[in-house]
Amino acid sequence: MNKLFIGSDHAGFDLKEFLKSYLKDEGYEIDDIGTTSSKSCDYPDIANKMADSLTKDKENLGILICGTGLGMSMAVNRYRNIRGALLYSPEEARLAREHNNANVAVLGARTFSNKENLDFLTAFLTAKFSNEERHQQRIDKIS
Ligand code: RB5
Repeated sequence: MNKLFIGSDHAGFDLKEFLKSYLKDEGYEIDDIGTTSSKSCDYPDIANKMADSLTKDKENLGILICGTGLGMSMAVNRYRNIRGALLYSPEEARLAREHNNANVAVLGARTFSNKENLDFLTAFLTAKFSNEERHQQRIDKIS
């Protein structure tokens, strides 16, 4: 994985900018798919863009942010190749990668602080899919 796609609606815009700056400093290549300001917009438009980006670029991971993370989760998980995980603890973020091979981290900007969300994201990005057969079998059944 060498590139991270990141997107948010207006409610997640400030957290997106905060995470972008942190991740760039950490050496990640970031592809920002919008939105570009705090002006009101519709989260499904960004979730659809994320699905398109990850369909073209299967090896990479995505980050989606809205107020609660709920709308983004619902919208992005309509795509067969997407496994979006709404993150609410570092432990669950790690398991989302190790067991579920999640390829999109979804965050709630209004439900957790920037620091909490950064902790969840760090756990997500530093974990890897376990590659165990039983987990792959279950993931295959989702699609
Ligand atoms: C926007 O006000 C808010 O509804 C949106 O960011 C998100 O939380 C939806 O699930």
